Amino acid sequence: MTRSKIVSANWKMNKTVAQALAWFDTIQQHNLGDAQVQQIVCVPYVCLPALTQVAQSHQNIAIAAQNVAEQGSGAYTGEVSAEMLQHLGVSHAIVGHSERRSLYHETDETCANKAIQALKHEIVPIFCVGETLEQKQADETQSVIRRQLDALVEAVAQSATVNKAHMIFAYEPVWAIGTGRNATPEDAMTTIAFLREVLAQAWSPAEADAVHILYGGSVNADNLTSYVNNAHVDGVLVGGASLDAGSYVRLVSHMQAVVSA
Ligand code: PGA
Repeated sequence: MTRSKIVSANWKMNKTVAQALAWFDTIQQHNLGDAQVQQIVCVPYVCLPALTQVAQSHQNIAIAAQNVAEQGSGAYTGEVSAEMLQHLGVSHAIVGHSERRSLYHETDETCANKAIQALKHEIVPIFCVGETLEQKQADETQSVIRRQLDALVEAVAQSATVNKAHMIFAYEPVWAIGTGRNATPEDAMTTIAFLREVLAQAWSPAEADAVHILYGGSVNADNLTSYVNNAHVDGVLVGGASLDAGSYVRLVSHMQAVVSA
């Protein structure tokens, strides 16, 4: 199956609404309207209303959340539900980013529940997995990823009504995030192929083939091509190098060059 390529920006806790709109204004001045490259911009909650509005006229730019509540509704002060996001026109949400897992103690089960909430409200989870440096050095990359996926697979199995067909996964080695120390393209490719194999065993080869799997961790315009120039890696999840609008435009242009080559 030929899957489309994705460039996804993760702004993390950066940009006010005014800064977000200025960023969008700058990228609109460039001709990034190539439907072959899917763009997903993951922004802070407070930027979602304004950006979902301005992005309406750009079919290939999706505005996404960086998190979603584990529960449907109720007494969960400070949380934002999948239903609330859906009503704003949010199409995707990052789930299980390593910063959420480590700084906010989100367990594999929590992340799986969040993915289910998203799927129930037609929000595509960008489900992040990846090992720490310690785990890498102990040769545990594959077992960590299998464990992180197992929780999701189990939750999906218990929730027969959710449609997992369009799920996106991101392999983000924790030691590569924000460090400038990225995984080699070969390692990223091998681990992503492993991830797809785990899903093929749990679901079916056809279902595993349908999902997108991205690489994330110190991606920039200079190294993007080396990651996505093969059939296994369907795109990139980019933090630091997505904040500057010019840098983001370069990321998308490089991806467009790969796609049209
Ligand atoms: P980075 O972050 O590109 O700054 O390494 C990636 C991420 O955390 O998704």
